[in-house]
Amino acid sequence: MIRQIGPMSMTRLPDGFLDELKSRLRPSDVIGRKVKLKRQGKEWVGLSPFTSEKTPSFYVNDQKGIFKDFSSGLGGDIIAFLMEAERLEFMEAVEQLAEEAGLDLPRASPEEAARYDRLSRLKQACAAATRFFQERLHAPDGAAARAYLENMRGLSPEAWARWSLGFAPDDWRQLFAHLTAQGFSEAELTAAGLARRSDKGGEPYDVFRNRIIFPITDPRGDVIAFGGRAMDPDDKAKYLNSPEGDLFHKSRVLYNYRRARSAIEYGERGGLIVCEGYMDVIALGEAGFANAVAPLGTALTPEQLHLVWKAGPDPVMCFDGDGAGLRAAFRTLDVALPQAQPDRSVYFCLLPEGMDPDDVLRQSGGHETLSRALEQARPMIELLWQRERDAEPLDTPERKAGLEARLRSAAARIEHPGVRSAYERDLVSRMRDHFWQLVMASRKGGRVPGSRRSPLGANKRPAKTAGLGLVMRALVSPDLIDHHGEVLAAAHFPDADVAAIRDALFDALNRGEVVDRATLSAHFTQAGNARAARLLEDYPDMPVLEAGTPAAREWLIALEHFVVAEDPDPAREVRVRPEATRSPEEWRVLHRRVSERPARIARLNEAAEDVDRS
Ligand code: UTP
Ligand code: MN
Repeated sequence: MIRQIGPMSMTRLPDGFLDELKSRLRPSDVIGRKVKLKRQGKEWVGLSPFTSEKTPSFYVNDQKGIFKDFSSGLGGDIIAFLMEAERLEFMEAVEQLAEEAGLDLPRASPEEAARYDRLSRLKQACAAATRFFQERLHAPDGAAARAYLENMRGLSPEAWARWSLGFAPDDWRQLFAHLTAQGFSEAELTAAGLARRSDKGGEPYDVFRNRIIFPITDPRGDVIAFGGRAMDPDDKAKYLNSPEGDLFHKSRVLYNYRRARSAIEYGERGGLIVCEGYMDVIALGEAGFANAVAPLGTALTPEQLHLVWKAGPDPVMCFDGDGAGLRAAFRTLDVALPQAQPDRSVYFCLLPEGMDPDDVLRQSGGHETLSRALEQARPMIELLWQRERDAEPLDTPERKAGLEARLRSAAARIEHPGVRSAYERDLVSRMRDHFWQLVMASRKGGRVPGSRRSPLGANKRPAKTAGLGLVMRALVSPDLIDHHGEVLAAAHFPDADVAAIRDALFDALNRGEVVDRATLSAHFTQAGNARAARLLEDYPDMPVLEAGTPAAREWLIALEHFVVAEDPDPAREVRVRPEATRSPEEWRVLHRRVSERPARIARLNEAAEDVDRS
């Protein structure tokens, strides 16, 4: 028998406040901070924090919003949990949770209570409007809308129901008449964003007419606004959203947030997919990407980003792969950068030019294309680096200094000190790496010392030592080799000496020898490969990378280009297993494979390189 913990006496809170509070917080998040929880079917289970039990009998159920502890006999909601676990008074627990949920604690004043009552009345109007729009979609005058959804957008009636899609008839007063008949006043319908009067006076009329309707919910799941899409391509506004009001602030709302957030499992890496529009979210959801959200026709705001991060640490932002998409990505980057934290980053997915997720998914093989694009989303630092590097040519010392200044000031915008200095180090090392590549490229091209060939021009040609930086990083970072040795082994570097350095690295590991730059360089000198020895000696110092960090992920992404793009044998697929760690046995097998493999490739590379080696 479970004893319900409940408030003994309760300060009057406005109706709905506690529901709102609880709907904003996942019990497994709140309780999971105190109790180590493991997933078990629909529930979470762990050891009771209230007894010293050895077998777990403490359950948390997110759907029901409760915990049950069979060893102590306690149970209840998150407020009850905090009261018991942290010995708080009821109002103290509410206060703490309200802060976590980003809710202002209502003073239990009559005004506040009245405000809550009023908002819930507006929500009732929106709920009634949703039902009306849904009915109209199935009515005779909804025929064109049904045809549009089915034929033009490929959405079945089941999908309309899943997204509560509706149709606003081509009529000035149908909804108004329908809702006033249910007792809603003109003031309420106006405040709910459903009706308006023209500035010149006249009768009130419906805001949404002859449009497909997308209901927008708050994090609790209550409808608070609507988006409406015109079916006529000549309509002045393709999309129309509810006006701002007490209920709806579009900068603080994300379409499909509630469902997308609950699609992400507690403790799972990753996060939401943020795309640009209603139809993208729906297309993604119908294709099985249930964690998609969209802002409502604006760039992502800081408030929206906050919501996104609450759902998961590593959201992916999806943009068109064209210039406008890239600019939008940069805007989001500027919003996210200052807020970046160890467990809060942003990834960017640039789709094929001119396509949004809906377009991609409607192509044949679209699901595959999109999954791959999402997997290959690039970390924020990479986009930042690319933007600053390409902002102007790097053909003079002044401009090179300019790049350094831009990078430092970008990093300086990051509030979190640890992340800030990690960005600084990483950006500066990318810069050194890049300058070094420029120098090498110009040396190759120029040959004569003091040649006036522009390094920028040289930079456009493929760098002869592409991948060297990646190998050098692996050389100083055992952790990278532990986790991603397989990918490094499979990479096909166009430069024979880069490949040779990588192979020598694996050979040494294979023999159980110490691996460092000096040893490898000595090895090459002895073997008569002066160029490889010089590459090893000349390369700037690299910071050590830990697997799993953003910088390591970038390293891996860059490395994968060499696997995907250069693999001449498509039958030999290399899959990246980011979390995999290998047993010594596995490593021995792998190393054997690796040391057998490169001979052929090295020969190919040498044949290609002989041309420009002198
Ligand atoms: P897009 O113009 O990119 O359209 O608008 P879309 O999502 O691909 O729409 P379809 O596929 O043509 O139906 C993206 C988002 O921008 C907002 C809407 O929220 C839309 O989902 N928007 C767009 C507006 O608010 N008003 C507009 O006139 C257009
Ligand atoms: Mn679209």
